[in-house]
Amino acid sequence: MSLAYPRKLDLACTPTPLQYLERASQRWGRGHRLWVKRDDLTGCTLSGNKVRKLEFIAAHALDNDYDTLITCGGLQSNHARATAFVGAQTGLKVHLLLRGDTPAQADGNLLLDHLAGATVSCYPKAQYVAEIDDLFRHWQQHYAAAGRRALAIPTGGSDGIGAWGYISACEELAGDFAREGIESAHIVTASGSGGTQAGLTLGVALHQLPATVWGVAVCDDESYFLNKVAEDANDWANRYQQLPLPDIEPRVLDGYVGRGYGIAEDHIFDLIADLASLEGLVLDPVYTGKAFAGMLAEIEKGRFASCRDIVFVHTGGIFGVFAQRDRFNS
Ligand SMILES: Cc1ncc(COP(=O)(O)O)c(C=O)c1O
Repeated sequence: MSLAYPRKLDLACTPTPLQYLERASQRWGRGHRLWVKRDDLTGCTLSGNKVRKLEFIAAHALDNDYDTLITCGGLQSNHARATAFVGAQTGLKVHLLLRGDTPAQADGNLLLDHLAGATVSCYPKAQYVAEIDDLFRHWQQHYAAAGRRALAIPTGGSDGIGAWGYISACEELAGDFAREGIESAHIVTASGSGGTQAGLTLGVALHQLPATVWGVAVCDDESYFLNKVAEDANDWANRYQQLPLPDIEPRVLDGYVGRGYGIAEDHIFDLIADLASLEGLVLDPVYTGKAFAGMLAEIEKGRFASCRDIVFVHTGGIFGVFAQRDRFNS
């Protein structure tokens, strides 16, 4: 289908490779071919899934005379870090509203946020959860009073604008499938704020890719993500009035959050180490490690039994590894 894409900036190193995981398929595949879409390679400081969304969001900001981006997330937010570097690369100022107390020493993504010159405000968890909408409003008004114009980007860049990132990634996947002889596939990705899943789900429908998209919940639960994907898809449809609107059927793999968002059990750290040495592929403990573990557990249960190919979208997150370095048994 030919879509009227809005303008985007060229910030990500795309297309990313689709790689076959031969040894992982042998060890865990149970007859499936396991593939990985290397969106961890979209850039160095801009690595991961967020830059695909931010290419459209930053173009929207520039085209609508915004001079500042405000966004939010956890202290180790990959989205916040990617936004900080998009700002540094485009001349837009960035203000990050982060959940958690200011640590004595900045590590991982937070260290990079500072290097990129972002303004960082940290809020204790209870205050953040209760007041985040007010905090966005407060800072937007603060900048407006100084004659500036600040765009509020929601958690994870997940809204109708950000959805374009993975709608367009599905065009890449269509080419990957044709090249590799993949006739049908299950696509599995981590869901944190739901935008990647929303974009993929829309993109598969719009580009008529022979694939089913599964988001592995790494926080919240199935009903949250079913609603969130529908919400992002509706926001996309309302903003861009693309017709005909595709029928979408979001699918969530629930039960892999563990004790909570950002808290991983030992077996996740073991899996990260196993895959790093088996395939040279590094997952992270917050998103991709849990999602990959969920995918393997579902393979064992026979969830994907009727289909040979499974594509894991590696959404990045490597800097989160360093922030939890003490959990690895070296
Ligand atoms: C590395 C990584 N993977 C996956 C996700 C989840 O993507 P989304 O927020 O679009 O659901 C995020 C962010 O939330 C992330 O930082």
